[in-house]
Amino acid sequence: MKSNPVFVAIDTPDVAAATTLANTLKDSVGGIKLGLEFFTACGPAGVDAVAACGAPLFLDLKLHDIPNTVAGAVRSLSQLRYPPTFLTLHAQGGPAMIAAAAKVREEAQLPTQLLAVTVLTSLDAQDLTLMGVSASPLDQVERLGTMAVEAGADGCVCSPQEVAQLRANLGSGPALMVPGIRPAGSAVGDQKRVMTPAQAMAAGASHLVIGRPITSAEDPQSAAQAINAELSNGAG
Ligand code: C5P
Repeated sequence: MKSNPVFVAIDTPDVAAATTLANTLKDSVGGIKLGLEFFTACGPAGVDAVAACGAPLFLDLKLHDIPNTVAGAVRSLSQLRYPPTFLTLHAQGGPAMIAAAAKVREEAQLPTQLLAVTVLTSLDAQDLTLMGVSASPLDQVERLGTMAVEAGADGCVCSPQEVAQLRANLGSGPALMVPGIRPAGSAVGDQKRVMTPAQAMAAGASHLVIGRPITSAEDPQSAAQAINAELSNGAG
């Protein structure tokens, strides 16, 4: 296997718990994902405290605002001691917002890849209709994903349902970060449609987001290592 594609989602508002888990897992995963729950509670100092473990960081902030404001938020990442490897922004912010974020990233020489969130998986076709979008969710994901990459995003976050289609549309270059992953035999929880790690990689994912199957395990390090073994074997 080349570099470990698994980013473990540490979803907690508690910096001590997140730091302990990060240090336990840093050698068994490819990186750590921190999201809004963590960021609103612990802020940039909390991000740096977790990132000090040395693992690559995926900061899942899903930025969505006017181009100038999003550019300012990306510029502010340079104040972090450990700027993230990945940052999310909403494709629905439009091409100018994405281009502004990419431009500032270059200017500030940040090592951060910008990943576009297309259609939230909590939205279904009926929701899109209510929002004035007549396209199907999959068509809208393809449209927004293509637009985002053309505007300067380095890839997308997408569900297991969309990864094969998006990979076919975008080619081999862009990163595709895929949550909704459940190792063979693990609890599905509130995720409705899931793939195993090996299935998602075979479908075209470049990176996987896995949270509770690792973080809620009795032994998180063993759980992460079992996923690595599953991926090395190509089992799915
Ligand atoms: O614990 P679990 O593996 O379900 O965690 C998945 C992580 O990925 C969570 O941080 C969740 O917010 C995020 N996510 C998701 N489904 C999406 C987008 C993001 O589960 N469609």
